[in-house]
Amino acid sequence: MRGVVLTGAGISAESGVPVFRGDDGLWEGHRVEDVATPGGFGRDAEKVHRFYNARRRRLLEVEPNGAHRALARLAREWPGELTLVTQNIDDLHERAGSPEVLHMHGELLKSRCCLCGAVAACTGDLSRASLCGVCDGIDCLRPHVVWFGEMPFHLGEIERAMQRADWFVSIGTSGRVYPAAGFVLAAAEAGARTIELNLDPGEMSSAFDESRLGPASELVPAWVDEILAGG
Ligand code: OAD
Repeated sequence: MRGVVLTGAGISAESGVPVFRGDDGLWEGHRVEDVATPGGFGRDAEKVHRFYNARRRRLLEVEPNGAHRALARLAREWPGELTLVTQNIDDLHERAGSPEVLHMHGELLKSRCCLCGAVAACTGDLSRASLCGVCDGIDCLRPHVVWFGEMPFHLGEIERAMQRADWFVSIGTSGRVYPAAGFVLAAAEAGARTIELNLDPGEMSSAFDESRLGPASELVPAWVDEILAGG
């Protein structure tokens, strides 16, 4: 058996990482065009750095929750092939113990050099004065994240996993951002059983075979118990 799990901001919400949409969501307080596009970075790099520096500091203060831990347990105990894809740029899946995570929107705790392309660990603040540790370039580091208008990472690998999937589970995502929003359609086309676990029905909810509503910290451990019991 082969399974694909897709996670979104909702899985990290109970850890204290804000989601994007809705009351108090990140996109309520910030304009996407300003802080999450290459054009915004070109216009005002320091503003973009401030936005990601604040998110990075916050991430270092929070912990994985029961939903992240349940997926790590699934990876350890399930005998089938598991692909874990996340739209999240946090490292909470890794800290919970998931061995391999496809970060399709990049990783907040990494920087990338716009001159030499080097990707490096990054736990401190970035600014235009930051130096690339590989090419010594200045004013060239950016967060290693995917902005609107840029190509997500790992798409080939994700597509291959989706084509072979027996089941597909989507956790804590509003289904508003493509290509991730379309994964349920690809999975269904491949004949996979599809399940949505979310606090509210996502935009693609009707495309799933089953939708369970509630907090991820409750739904995900219960679903993992089921799968491990052969359900
Ligand atoms: P959104 O903020 O769009 O949606 C979060 C989803 O999580 C919603 O459907 C909520 O109902 C659900 N949710 C909230 N709390 C939850 C909880 N405790 N348990 C379960 N579900 C909960 O976040 P994403 O769908 O992840 O991309 O957003 C997708 C992409 O849009 C992000 O990766 C980001 C953003 O713009 C980029 O920045 C490129």
